Amino acid sequence: MSGRTIVTMPGDGIGQVVLSEAIRVMGAAGFKADYVEGDIGWEFWKKEGNPLPDRTIKLLEKHKIGLFGAITSKPKDEAANELSPELQGKGFIYSSPIVGLRQHFNLDVCIRPCKTYKGNPLNFIRRGRGDAIEEPEVDVVIFRQNTEGLYSGVEWSNPDKQIHAALMTHPKFVKNFGRVPAEELAVSTRIFTKNATERILYTAFAYANLYGYKSVTVCEKPNVIRETSGMMFRMAKEIRKDFSQIELWNTNIDAQMMWLTKNPEDYGVIVAGNMFGDIVSDGFAGLIGGLGFACSANIGEEVAVFEPTHGSAPKYAGYIVSIVNPIAMIASACMMLDYIGEHDISAKIRKGVAEVISDGKVRTYDMMKMPGKPDVIYKGAASTQQMTDAIIQKINR
Ligand code: NAI
Ligand code: MG
Repeated sequence: MSGRTIVTMPGDGIGQVVLSEAIRVMGAAGFKADYVEGDIGWEFWKKEGNPLPDRTIKLLEKHKIGLFGAITSKPKDEAANELSPELQGKGFIYSSPIVGLRQHFNLDVCIRPCKTYKGNPLNFIRRGRGDAIEEPEVDVVIFRQNTEGLYSGVEWSNPDKQIHAALMTHPKFVKNFGRVPAEELAVSTRIFTKNATERILYTAFAYANLYGYKSVTVCEKPNVIRETSGMMFRMAKEIRKDFSQIELWNTNIDAQMMWLTKNPEDYGVIVAGNMFGDIVSDGFAGLIGGLGFACSANIGEEVAVFEPTHGSAPKYAGYIVSIVNPIAMIASACMMLDYIGEHDISAKIRKGVAEVISDGKVRTYDMMKMPGKPDVIYKGAASTQQMTDAIIQKINR
């Protein structure tokens, strides 16, 4: 074969369904690769007490490129109860394997494009002047810092004496929380480093430059969260000096969410920390069709993993005929193809997807605005496989 090996990690639920569909589409578009399957997800938590086995880490260390479906996560107690009997009470603690992957390989740059497909009945519309109904064309790419901020896991409930003493060195802590008993405190930290902040900003500017976006918007809250958001915006002003033709905009996350429906077509590249990046990317994804369309890349210096934003949707996992939309996964595979330089193949696939959507003949249940039930396929909705087949037919034409 081509000598290229991709690590597939189907994971749980519909992750398994949509990943195999994406592989089918890539094959039809002429992509040649070997695939090796990496174990990940709930099954391995239950059987081995580890949803991200070391052998999967090794595969990614070796082959560098991963294509991931989705995993199921459950709260700590529920997770502990589902461990196989011989593992129970042995100190295994569940943590999300996809978060684990991002941290292990320092996949610090998360890219989430949200681009309108013409003819998608789920596209956002708004009322314009008079009675005009407008359908703004969204073409936004969100760069989310993927490893730090509020997701770094540096947090305490009932912080011990040492931590409490350290917090008490901050005058605002003393003033606002100094009298609260430690056992009534829960603290989550928001830590930004210069190195990671520079990397997400620089990657965003370089992307805007390469693909001709006119602006980079830092979407944080620097006037309130002065140290972390403030640092990101200050650094953005510095980095922008290398990209003088690109405008630097500054929006607050709260205002941005309001403006989302007012003028989404005005934004190009958006950069944000981990939490705000998650929020703003879900917001924009909603404008272009939601979870059935939202794709993403997690990129580190050595390893990159591509995945749809949606989860394992357990309630649809057991359907004999799958009804979920494979486009988010297929678009994630296109991001992988671009990353490894297979631009012609990704362009072919994207064109096929766009044509199927604009034809409007083949639509999954979400596109038909139906409640997701097994009977949707008798009511005119396409199955997952039929959607894939339609895309492949366009590619082959
Ligand atoms: P979810 O994304 O799995 O599903 C939410 C709803 O979105 C579904 O019920 C369905 O109506 C819709 N949906 C999702 N994917 C779709 C698709 N491809 N086509 C059409 N409709 C689709 O999120 P939920 O229900 O909150 O979580 C289910 C499980 O997935 C949980 O265990 C959660 O922890 C996990 N999860 C995993 C993620 C990952 O693997 N990266 C991300 C989000 C959730
Ligand atoms: Mg999310």
